[in-house]
Amino acid sequence: MEEYYWDTKLEYLKRTRDLYYNDDYLEFLVKYVWKLSKPIHIIDFGCGFGYLGLKLLPLLPTGSKYTGVDKGQQLINKGIELFQNLKYEAEFFETDANEIELECKYDIAVCHAFLLHMSDPKRMLQKMISSIVNNGKIICFEPHWISNMSSYCIDGYDQTHIMKLGILQNLFENDEKKNGKDGNIGAKIPLYLAELGVKNIECRISDKVNFLNPYMDQIDKQKLYFSLKEEGLGEKPSNKEAFIEGLKNSGVTLEDAQAQYEAELLFSKVFNIDSSLVYAPSMKITFGEIKNCNQS
Ligand SMILES: C[S@@+](CC[C@H](N)C(=O)[O-])C[C@H]1O[C@@H](n2cnc3c(N)ncnc32)[C@H](O)[C@@H]1O
Repeated sequence: MEEYYWDTKLEYLKRTRDLYYNDDYLEFLVKYVWKLSKPIHIIDFGCGFGYLGLKLLPLLPTGSKYTGVDKGQQLINKGIELFQNLKYEAEFFETDANEIELECKYDIAVCHAFLLHMSDPKRMLQKMISSIVNNGKIICFEPHWISNMSSYCIDGYDQTHIMKLGILQNLFENDEKKNGKDGNIGAKIPLYLAELGVKNIECRISDKVNFLNPYMDQIDKQKLYFSLKEEGLGEKPSNKEAFIEGLKNSGVTLEDAQAQYEAELLFSKVFNIDSSLVYAPSMKITFGEIKNCNQS
């Protein structure tokens, strides 16, 4: 049987998350924005190996609990292993989040880079909301790809040659229309939550701006470079004909598909460990309060 895709992406998940947030920013959100001062039970939809749990539990009041839900058996096993020797109470469910029936008992439902993979993200948001107690919170960390793509600067090259923003805009929008999965979902969640009755909605942006440069410490440079490569920066495009055909199938014109291929090829040729590059992933962090659950 073919291995589940995300079970093969553990290295990617482990290496890339640090590109998005500084630890002090997460601490700032927990303490000063969400003001989480009492022990809480948090549920993480599409938790992977438990990245958010591992980041948030040390910042939450003692006695807080973590529940992770994911379809990936190996990711769940990794999460169990990572939490085993920690002092936090944690449990994991290996299941399809579309199918899971949850009690309305969690103080906070979170997700990280999960809703963009849902063909009906609003339905999943409703499911998350239904799991949260009255006065609880929903917090979604999701990407906004076009903002991400516009946040690159590589020394020596005009951004127009490396990033074809107009083409990418079309591509992301066409993909969303075709299959419902939306890489720009981060910027849409505020409205979706409002439509679903969530109150006091706010949206923030991830703080981290990564700066690779020849003057930095060698070990830091290697770590950052390999994280950026794992994130897909400067990845060599696949076989030219297949690449162009794939884009055409996603509604991109032949001319645009060729231009996109050339841009990706150029990026793959010029990006190396000695490049000077600034990259801000620009994740959107949307949160709000649940005021309509029947439980108190
Ligand atoms: C980009 S990864 C993010 C993982 C984790 N939240 C993180 O940021 O490290 C997307 C995750 O969503 C999970 N996922 C996708 N569809 C799912 C579904 N229907 N039910 C449960 N998990 C799902 C995948 O298994 C994968 O772990």
